[in-house]
Amino acid sequence: MTLKTGRGAEAPPFIVMDVIAAANARAAALPLGAPGILRMEVGQPGAGAPEGAIRAAEAALRSGAPLGYTEAFGLSVLRERIARHYQDHYGLAVSPARIAVTVGASGAFPLAFLAAFDRGDRVAMAAPFYPPYANILTALGMEPVLLECGEETRFQPTLALLERLDPLPDGLIVASPCNPAGTMLPPEELAAIARWCHEKGVRLVSDEIYHGLSWGTVEESTAAAFSPSAVVVNSFSKYWCMTGWRIGWLLLPEDLIRPVECLAQNMFISAPHVAQIAAAAAMDCGEELEARKAGYARSRALLLEGLPRAGFTRIAAADGAFYLWCDVGHLTNDATGFTARMLDGAGIAATPGVDFDRTRGSRFLRFSYCGAEAAMAEAPGRLAKWLEG
Ligand SMILES: Cc1ncc(COP(=O)(O)O)c(C=O)c1O
Repeated sequence: MTLKTGRGAEAPPFIVMDVIAAANARAAALPLGAPGILRMEVGQPGAGAPEGAIRAAEAALRSGAPLGYTEAFGLSVLRERIARHYQDHYGLAVSPARIAVTVGASGAFPLAFLAAFDRGDRVAMAAPFYPPYANILTALGMEPVLLECGEETRFQPTLALLERLDPLPDGLIVASPCNPAGTMLPPEELAAIARWCHEKGVRLVSDEIYHGLSWGTVEESTAAAFSPSAVVVNSFSKYWCMTGWRIGWLLLPEDLIRPVECLAQNMFISAPHVAQIAAAAAMDCGEELEARKAGYARSRALLLEGLPRAGFTRIAAADGAFYLWCDVGHLTNDATGFTARMLDGAGIAATPGVDFDRTRGSRFLRFSYCGAEAAMAEAPGRLAKWLEG
């Protein structure tokens, strides 16, 4: 008998996860005393949760109080703290009623997509893009519409590109800073896109997971400031260094609050209780987190100086996040083979561009610089030697 498999069974891999596995295997096979693998493939801060978050989690675990389900939208103390963050960070008054705490940003996407779109709906996004956007939409029966973007638009969508779409899409996903390019949309461009989407009935989903990590070239702004219909996604994984705690959030427009709540009740019940307590405490750990951010800034400066000397001369505007998107078309037309050889020859793990752009990605690769600062200092020298040899 042949059993049927569903649309979700066709989801392509998230290639970076395969690169991580290859780098782990290579590291495990290294002879004793050999120089280690420099990990530049993964978008995970090298340091864990800030101290205040750990203390809060420890106290909660030891208090004897049951850590059970919370309300589907999360603990009110966390929702209120996130709402206050909008006031503190963007000067925007936001009601805690609009905040839905989720299982990471990853858990927010299916909730947002299912509440906002139907099967068959077309959702636009810039290419290169964070692969799960397209893979989740496809698994849900929706259709990603890829807008090829390049250096000239900072790898970001423009109003002109959107206006050319016929028919108009049902939705648009933007990310600023974005993954993989690390580029940002200036506030006036995000505002124009958000207003256009609202006017045209195109649901805007703004992934703001890298907010807090921008480097002064472009000002951070939230889509919620420009549109009452935008859905904002964010997470404690990046600035707050809490990937494994699996806490993210949605800032919802009024019309999607109840639909998302019903979906969240059914799909997740709630995000992990203890992690919610830790996340609320992390929001008061500014000093420690700013010190880590200063470390990424130093790594970024080292790489922006050293990579061009090593031969990686074409790097996208490094406005934010902790990624450098390099055009390596002068070195290879097979980024996957190139990164595999780089892992073997230079002991450096990076992610091939095909993960993020299936058509043009074979001439790009992404370096992540949120790992150990010493590794970032060492990388350009190793790369130069490898490319020369
Ligand atoms: C752009 C972007 N959005 C969402 C996520 C998922 O983050 P989370 O750990 O909150 O699920 C990532 C993770 O790398 C990301 O880069």
